[in-house]
Amino acid sequence: MAERGGQRKARCFSTPSPTAISLLEKTYPTDATTNVTSAIAQKLSRNLYLQPAHPLGILRALIESHFPTFTALSGWSPLVTPAKNFDDLGFPPDHPGRALSDSYYVNRELMLRTHTSAHEVEVFARGERRWLLSADVYRRDEIDASHYPVFHQMEGARVFPASAAGVAELEDNNARLSAHLAQSNIVIEDVPHLSTTNPAQPSHDAHHAGLVALNLKLSLNSLMLALFGGRTGAGEEPLRVRWIEAYFPFTSPSYEVEVFFHGKWLEILGCGVVQQRTLDVANVPNNVSWAFGLGLERIAMILFSIPDIRLFWSEDPRFLSQFTPGQITTFKPYSKYPSCYKDVSFWVPSEGLHDNDVFDLVRDVVGDLAEDVKLIDNFTHPKTNRTSRCYRINYRSMDRSLSNEETNSLHVDVVSRLKDVFRVEIR
Ligand code: DAH
Repeated sequence: MAERGGQRKARCFSTPSPTAISLLEKTYPTDATTNVTSAIAQKLSRNLYLQPAHPLGILRALIESHFPTFTALSGWSPLVTPAKNFDDLGFPPDHPGRALSDSYYVNRELMLRTHTSAHEVEVFARGERRWLLSADVYRRDEIDASHYPVFHQMEGARVFPASAAGVAELEDNNARLSAHLAQSNIVIEDVPHLSTTNPAQPSHDAHHAGLVALNLKLSLNSLMLALFGGRTGAGEEPLRVRWIEAYFPFTSPSYEVEVFFHGKWLEILGCGVVQQRTLDVANVPNNVSWAFGLGLERIAMILFSIPDIRLFWSEDPRFLSQFTPGQITTFKPYSKYPSCYKDVSFWVPSEGLHDNDVFDLVRDVVGDLAEDVKLIDNFTHPKTNRTSRCYRINYRSMDRSLSNEETNSLHVDVVSRLKDVFRVEIR
């Protein structure tokens, strides 16, 4: 999980504080950490990635079909313990992803998974040796065309025995994948499998770790070719894939993969050789595995030319009727409805206020009718030391024209909730 800078400690803001929260038809006790809003709670049952004619479902199926011998897992509950999401994967206790400002907590013991890696231990423990797992994941974030607090990831892994048989399986599979790639229109910018800054794990034989890393690279280059190859536009242009050294607490060596598409390098996924402790906790020692995790929205936005991430959640037939199972087609935008900008300025209370608290409150009050929210002014008065902020909210519906009365009333609601929940002083 990428680290994101925190500001102040975020707070929960359900008003009035209920003692229980209902999620996926079950009730859970709340506590001081609870920060799942009702806007988020409503998303838990949508399962967009399971709809066969939805771009996310089409992409998921396409990736699954590229790995026909892998078990495809889905439908796993998004409610996980912080131990599963973080500790079992070696995240340090002070990792910023754990903060209330960055993740959604049901209570101290339960959170919404922030990545599909949260299920690695469970899946390895089932004895799965080649698997893919698709799921919705949740992160508190800003509001704009490419950020949404719910998105979808796919995790994949392949396990090899840490033995001579494992080496033979790797050598054989690597030879086959290399032969296939050698005939393909792809140019790869590689990094060494291992380096001093991206080392094999102490418990691994370096030769074996190198073979696993090569297998990972070949498998993912071949996936990139299946997804993006032949779509680079200009005739015979080869697909360009770039490997970059990375760091994740749960893999070593670790990499990121980027693809050059429509004139830009796009970050597609993170991956690496799974930390041995994950396989040990899963009770499958004496094995070596690679794993990767990718975000479905980012890839689908590129492949289907979908300009705004909110569209994935649209129930408008003008969106949904454009897609066919098994096919990547170009989305034809229908006319955009007018936007309406409204500002809210206030004095921040002395205990501070995190941007993500403001964003979540806006989403909770107006749902997807906020296209984006931007902090446009932030100053601290030199004498009083009080901080004033101004946020600009862009109200726009994806599927209808909002009347002036409606936007006014949405904005009045946002302002009054800001006052009630955070005790801000409106200017
Ligand atoms: N879980 C990571 C994220 O959400 C992505 C990832 C990186 C998954 C490396 C992996 C991996 O399986 O090996 O950003």
